[in-house]
Amino acid sequence: MKFFVDTADVDAIRELHDLGMVDGVTTNPSLILKSGRDILEVTKEICSFVEGPVSAEVVAEKAADMIAEGRKLAEIAPNIAVKVPLTWDGLKACKVLSGEGKMVNVTLCFSSNQALLAAKAGATFISPFIGRLDDISLDGLELIDDIRTIYDNYGFDTQILAASIRTLNHARECALIGADVMTAPPSVIKAMASHVLTDKGLEQFNKDWAKTGQKIL
Ligand code: E4P
Repeated sequence: MKFFVDTADVDAIRELHDLGMVDGVTTNPSLILKSGRDILEVTKEICSFVEGPVSAEVVAEKAADMIAEGRKLAEIAPNIAVKVPLTWDGLKACKVLSGEGKMVNVTLCFSSNQALLAAKAGATFISPFIGRLDDISLDGLELIDDIRTIYDNYGFDTQILAASIRTLNHARECALIGADVMTAPPSVIKAMASHVLTDKGLEQFNKDWAKTGQKIL
């Protein structure tokens, strides 16, 4: 499973990138706001060291405007994936931009029928939002599973980019289901390294080591 980092925080991306944990990056208007940076400038900086797809989102509502914004964002670097919303206009923009050879990430997907349409429109990635479905007492992971089945049934190439990942269980289940990619905030990726028994075991080893009175260096 590929790991994308869901942030526009360059320092956080660099830290994970240095560990080989970054196969790509996703951003959205809220994350750009949080970064306090200019979208074109920060996206360019991210693309200067991340080799994989970097998603940058359009903000227009009409297909023609989304296409114009998408073309401008795609000029930033060859690894830009233009992010368009899963609306009828977004699907039109997806069809045109993917036809031009650009990577397109169709975002804000909340149903398997939406995911089916995105694949038909030539999306490179479909982004189903797990956490936001869980927020309204629906099952976000069930959606990932359904899309996996549908895409496999018909051999669609569109990659499932599991998004809105909030918990360690989301990450684990996405890997078991076979999501192609998960995008998660740096805090979730880092939390994947933690286990209470690791902490407990280390505490005991440290205590016992102190009693030996030995040193390695
Ligand atoms: C995906 O591309 C989105 O940026 C993101 O995963 C949204 O996550 P949230 O629902 O936690 O804001």
